[in-house]
Amino acid sequence: MNQNPKKKFIGTLSQKDLLKLYSRYINAPKVRFFKSFGLGVIPGERKGVIMKTLEGFKSGEPPLELYNCRSSGGVFNLGHRNQRIIQILKDALNGGLDLGDHILLSEQRALLGKKLAELMPGDISKTTFGVSGGEAIDCAIKFSRAVTKRKGCISAVGGYHGHTGFALATGDPDFRDIFLWNLPEFKQIPFGDIDAMKKAVTEDIACVILETIPATAGILIAPEGYFAEVREICDETGTLMIIDEVQAGLGRTGELWAIYGGLYPNEKVVPDFIVLGKGMSSGIYPLSVCSYKPFIEKAVYKDDPFIQISTTGGSDIGCAIALEMLEIQSDPKFLTHVKKMGDIFQKGLEEIKKEFPDLIKEVRGRGLMWGVEFYDETDSQLGMLSIIKEGVLLDYCHNKKDTIKILPPLIVQKQELNEILARIRSGVVKLKKVKT
Ligand SMILES: Cc1ncc(COP(=O)(O)O)c(C=O)c1O
Repeated sequence: MNQNPKKKFIGTLSQKDLLKLYSRYINAPKVRFFKSFGLGVIPGERKGVIMKTLEGFKSGEPPLELYNCRSSGGVFNLGHRNQRIIQILKDALNGGLDLGDHILLSEQRALLGKKLAELMPGDISKTTFGVSGGEAIDCAIKFSRAVTKRKGCISAVGGYHGHTGFALATGDPDFRDIFLWNLPEFKQIPFGDIDAMKKAVTEDIACVILETIPATAGILIAPEGYFAEVREICDETGTLMIIDEVQAGLGRTGELWAIYGGLYPNEKVVPDFIVLGKGMSSGIYPLSVCSYKPFIEKAVYKDDPFIQISTTGGSDIGCAIALEMLEIQSDPKFLTHVKKMGDIFQKGLEEIKKEFPDLIKEVRGRGLMWGVEFYDETDSQLGMLSIIKEGVLLDYCHNKKDTIKILPPLIVQKQELNEILARIRSGVVKLKKVKT
């Protein structure tokens, strides 16, 4: 018999004791890293745009209430614990669903596949599922190799596609060197440089993989026409084009797809693959997606329909949740909301830049995906800390440490956004005071 139907999950121990457990059983260097920044806090209750901590920066202090502008890279597009998503989870469980069996066929996978095909650019209409973004990226690269019978892969310096096999091979050396994972066929070139792309894409290249707005690389904005030209280069050489919209897709730019009008309204490019992760979960149940054109299915699955499998990827529950998420996030009213909030946010950030021209070099982004570049790395890191202390959770771009990235949940409201801007400003004011 269940003695305790309201089992407690948050605040079972003090923050201090939990940090000790984390150190002992999970990852001691990570705890030391956070403590060294004075950020030895553990997330507690969360709702909407707010993430509370168990206690304050010092143990025993009251919990912090942070506006979550990290959104875990877009996992929390719908905020924390979105009620519509929670209801679908409950309904799915009560309605008879579980993970399903990945070897068998699935009603939920079929329905989600249809929905994705309706929403995807051009004739991208087939989908293979995974659990994580990296898994779905690996799938796209594997499929490119199977289709082209080539091994080469071109990615962007500073770009990030995950920590798994082929995804890791596309990334920067500091993520892969320690694992002795430097595949000679994988080459990086500067993002946005079309001449470098022309030189790199030769007839032994299977695929080009790019984020539409590289996040870890510093929220970079390619010149207009770049992606259309990459498409042409790929067509001329028989190379497949993989677009990673793990962070920039699903409405983050104010359009459903960054590559299809979200980056530049008049630039609508149809790649061969679109990969999605993070936000597919709505922060509730993991799911990732590798969607592609039908000719790819023919080449990959023709001899063996089980050549790509994932036991927990494309679970029935995950698909039911993703269907509801797509219903919400593809609604034109929802996308208009993101655009409106994006305009307010851009204006606010540009005003802050204008007020601190000696600290902030550039503000760039689209919709609700923004990078603030400082003149130097120390300022961006101190700025990040100062802003977190004002109650806005955000972080710097790992591969461009002079830039902080800001991704508020897409459900953020005007009043909340103004509060976030006020707190970011006050974080920068305090940074400026420390420096003078
Ligand atoms: C653009 C992009 N692609 C892929 C990934 C990998 O996703 P995951 O961590 O779910 O494997 C990430 C994760 O941060 C990402 O930002």
